[in-house]
Amino acid sequence: MTNNEKYRIAVLGTGHIGKTLARSLASAGHFVKVANSRGPETIAPDVLATGAEAADAASAMQNAQVVILSIPMAKLVDIAPLIRKLPQHVIVADTSNYYPHRDGNIDTFSDGQVESLWVAHLLNRPLVKVWNAIGSDSLATKGTAEATAVRISIPVAGNIEEHKKVVMSLVNETGFDAFDAGTLEESWRQQPGAPCYCTDLTYNEMKLALAATEKSRLPARRDIAVQAIQERMGDKRSNPNADYIVRLHRALFM
Ligand SMILES: NC(=O)c1ccc[n+]([C@@H]2O[C@H](COP(=O)([O-])OP(=O)(O)OC[C@H]3O[C@@H](n4cnc5c(N)ncnc54)[C@H](OP(=O)(O)O)[C@@H]3O)[C@@H](O)[C@H]2O)c1
Repeated sequence: MTNNEKYRIAVLGTGHIGKTLARSLASAGHFVKVANSRGPETIAPDVLATGAEAADAASAMQNAQVVILSIPMAKLVDIAPLIRKLPQHVIVADTSNYYPHRDGNIDTFSDGQVESLWVAHLLNRPLVKVWNAIGSDSLATKGTAEATAVRISIPVAGNIEEHKKVVMSLVNETGFDAFDAGTLEESWRQQPGAPCYCTDLTYNEMKLALAATEKSRLPARRDIAVQAIQERMGDKRSNPNADYIVRLHRALFM
């Protein structure tokens, strides 16, 4: 599944998800540049430990072949002008999810707008939705070699097959089986509240989970999970460990 090609990759966001992606993709031999909102000098050494370079967002994306957005959904508005300028051949992969308690009220989502279509419209370009449906601790600790007996699968949605194929090979290199989840229009099946969301399913389980998703139930289930996590963690920033996240989400979403 890996195509062995090494890519110039920009990772925007060095939080729970972005730092793990930067570390694992640099480990796999890709040329990775990372940026956060505060400047390269504030990026922690552990993010760069496997070879990624710190940059500001504009220089990280200069000549990048793949740009990975790993920032809160509402903050994508700040970065949109730069992303809109990228040439069309650049592959943009987005890990974001909509959480009203963090992102504020984005009206269109109450009408059932698919989150990734909102992002694609904001950025005025195609994108691949990926790494959004795995908890940060699972992403950091549960990756395994290809063909391991029980390997976790990650859904990947997008409308440009070539872009999706490259991203799927990167997912494989981060230690997970990439599951082709169809088009962006169908990507509501991997949003918060869905059976495949942060439940650490295998490739074979993923197909059934995507098919079983009931769109109208996603927002309520998402919000119940947030309340449970905030009650447990006592703050709005910490992520619980994989064991708790997976138990909670399986109980609520499946
Ligand atoms: N946490 C999870 O388990 C998880 C799982 C799957 C998907 N996601 C989704 O993935 C996205 C990132 O989540 P996270 O938990 O990694 O977030 P996080 O820990 O809060 O980190 C967010 C990162 O985005 C950076 N950022 C914000 N605005 C920026 C801008 N304009 N330019 C460049 N960088 C910017 C922040 O920079 P500073 O460091 O300077 O503040 C920070 O490094 C979210 O949409 C989230 O819903 C999260």
